Amino acid sequence: MGSLILSEKPHAVCIPFPAQGHINPMLKVAKLLHHKGFHITFVNTEFNHKRLLKSRGANSLNGLSSFRFETIPDGLPPTDVDATQDIPSLCESTSKTCLAPFRKLLSKLNDTSSSNVPPVTCIISDGVMTFTLDAAEELGIPEVLLWTASACSYLAYVHFRQLIDRGYVPLEDTSFLTNGYLDTEINFISGMKGIRLKDFPTFIRTTNSESDDIMLKFILVETERAKRASAIIINTFVALEDQFLSVLSSMFPPIYSIGPLQLLLNYVPDKDLKQFGSNLWKEEPECLKWLDSREPNSVVYVNFGSITVMTSDQLVEFAWGLANSNQVFLWIIRPDLVSGDSAILPPEFLAETKDRGLLTGWCPQEQVLNHLAIGGFLTHNGWNSTIESVCGGDAMICWPFFADQQTNCRYCCTEWGIGMEINSDVKRDEVEILVRELMEGEKGKDMKKKAMEWKKLAEESTTSPNGSSYKNFEELIHQVLLSTA
Ligand code: UDX
Repeated sequence: MGSLILSEKPHAVCIPFPAQGHINPMLKVAKLLHHKGFHITFVNTEFNHKRLLKSRGANSLNGLSSFRFETIPDGLPPTDVDATQDIPSLCESTSKTCLAPFRKLLSKLNDTSSSNVPPVTCIISDGVMTFTLDAAEELGIPEVLLWTASACSYLAYVHFRQLIDRGYVPLEDTSFLTNGYLDTEINFISGMKGIRLKDFPTFIRTTNSESDDIMLKFILVETERAKRASAIIINTFVALEDQFLSVLSSMFPPIYSIGPLQLLLNYVPDKDLKQFGSNLWKEEPECLKWLDSREPNSVVYVNFGSITVMTSDQLVEFAWGLANSNQVFLWIIRPDLVSGDSAILPPEFLAETKDRGLLTGWCPQEQVLNHLAIGGFLTHNGWNSTIESVCGGDAMICWPFFADQQTNCRYCCTEWGIGMEINSDVKRDEVEILVRELMEGEKGKDMKKKAMEWKKLAEESTTSPNGSSYKNFEELIHQVLLSTA
């Protein structure tokens, strides 16, 4: 990928939603644009900036002169707790309070008397931070929204309005969560034939009206406002999600699938950018050495991402399921994974698995998923984890927790052939059976074969100038981001 030669650098302001699964892909987009000659301002919330400094070291965000970090407040009460913030509160506060400090930041960057950076020429904002569109319109510059999740989940979200208008949502009462109602098939969405209510992002599982439900209202506003963007970019690739991308393209401004971003980023040789990581928890890379000592395809990797919270009973069911499967495992237990309490595992479990299980708090996941020793992934199906798993050619056991994860799970299990779902009411016997199947069974073998095929397609879409994501990224720059620069 060649770089731009311009007399004045274009300047992209990149602003992710302040959660791990959003900061990671936005940082990748920022690095790619920097490689293409853009000056970058990356905007974190003050809360996350502090956490990044803590987890990665005090100098880790001292930018280059052409790649700088700035902060705005998130609008929530200050706290020193190092844990995932409450997502509905964060959605509400960012949408209500962040526009004013964001505008102020843009004025500061554009103030030629005090700022020594080029004027801002475009904004790359998270797909759920659409308040930023007001600022872009005021400045008359293009704004591109980064949808950090799957195209299938976006298509499901944009149909929330129709689900409400047709009377499927909100639920009549909470018994509808368990009485089979969620098995209802929805057949009016092109590209999603046979999708059930339970496969939709979980924010439809409410008995409140749209005006009373924070997340339902939030999604309706964000998906509607997205139509004002100059373009939408998605961390996916055509071969995997064409059936959803083509429907979305008929409803929205131009859509560019530019994923998997981690593969596109292989082109960026700039060593200076390597220091900018985005882990909010301190990485414990020792597990990579441990994996080096294991046989190829022999380790089950277990990680439920940055937001999932489970009960201590569920934790214990997973533990005994893994122990009873007799497989070797690497299990990442985030310090705030268990609700209310710290994660306490039975001493008998620890004694029984001490020679074949490694437990740790946070790992370099992309490297883990690419490690030859990994034979399968027990995941919550966050989109980053899912697409990273595709890049590693790994088959999955899916235990979706919330939001888009249910939708990702459906397509992993029913269409892409790379996943098996675990019941949300998890029990040790099912974990044991599925883990054995993943690692030793026929279905496990088929899924691995399929996963390797998707991996190859993902590489093809990013590694040659004819690849769809490679081409889309070039077009995005020339057709949208430089259109007024
Ligand atoms: C959730 C969603 O499900 C996701 O689809 C949505 O867009 C954002 O909110 P999260 O729980 O953070 O996300 O999961 P995921 O999307 O998988 O992102 C987690 C990220 O953290 C991944 O990039 C993963 O590589 C990284 N990670 C996780 C680590 O680097 N180390 C770990 O130990 C755990």
